[in-house]
Formats: sequence, structure tokens, C-alpha cells
Amino acid sequence: MSDLSSMTPSERRFYEAGERQERIWVFIVLILLTVLTIIAMLYVVIDYNLVTKSGGQTPVIGQMTTDQAQPEGVAVETGPNAYTVSLVARMWRWAPGPIHVKQGAKITFRVTSADVLHGFEVQGTDINLTAVPGEIGLVSHVFRKPGTYYIICNEYCGLMHHAMASPIIVDPARPEAEAAQ
Ligand code: CUA
Repeated sequence: MSDLSSMTPSERRFYEAGERQERIWVFIVLILLTVLTIIAMLYVVIDYNLVTKSGGQTPVIGQMTTDQAQPEGVAVETGPNAYTVSLVARMWRWAPGPIHVKQGAKITFRVTSADVLHGFEVQGTDINLTAVPGEIGLVSHVFRKPGTYYIICNEYCGLMHHAMASPIIVDPARPEAEAAQ
């Protein structure tokens, strides 16, 4: 706050102009901050699948239940040619070991997180959902071709985020036919 009365006219003009500029720039910065914040929020929600979606499939988010009967990372038969794999994401792994599933079977992944948000994406498929602590995301997929598919994490989750990958090994439906080739 400058005392304008003790200034010469030219000094006064200088300070008045300065204060006007200052107000304008504070205003511009506030507008920029608001706009960038909104863009960042939209980007996270849309691009990082915080609104959980998965290609054409609709994962169901249910209430987390402690299900001791479901071992982590193991395909449990739940119906004719249908299996469920339960995964609890943790910094920074998806499963205790490689996950074996059968080619051509309907595999339903039940995915949750023990710590922070992780992005559950399986390379070469349209599986993509967010592992949310306290919630179970469900997504089903049929692996048509045998081979190794990697679950990668597409949600930044800390220091080793980039290394958070676990293999899904799709075993051939008819191993003897495969071996004969
Ligand atoms: Cu888990 Cu990034």
C-alpha cells in the first residue's frame, strides 16, 4: 500500500499502473490455475479409467468381501469352461506368481487393491479397469490364443509402478495337440 498523497504525479501514475497490472496478472493466474485443474481432473477421470470401463464390456464394481476361499492368482473353476481369478493388487505386484488360465475358457477376473489405485490392463486384450481398495472390479475375457500375456499397471502407483507387471500364461486347451505340432 503506497501513500499516493506524498508522491509526485508521475510517481503516482507509475504506482497506479503497477497496481493495475498486478491485479490483472493475479486474475490471469487464477483463471489459468482453474482451467488447468479442470483439465487435469477430466484427464484423470476419462483417460485413466477412473470411471471404470473396459472396451465393450462392463465391469461390475461390488462391495469388497473377504473371501478366503479364493486364493490369489489361481484360476478356480466356477462353471462349465468358466474360471475366476481373484487378484489383490499391491505395490508393486499383481499376483504371487504367474497366473495359469485355459485357452477358450471364460476367465473372470475379480480385482481389488490392498493399497492404492492400480490400473489393471492386460496387453493384447481390451481388459482395462481400475483396482480400487475396498471394491471388487469384475471383468471377463476369453483368451483365444495360447501364450503369455502381461498384466501391466496403467495407473501411477509409486516408485516401482513401471515394473508392476505379472504374466498370465494361457495354456492350450488341448496340450497333446499343441505338443504334436
Ligand atoms: Cu500399480 Cu502402477
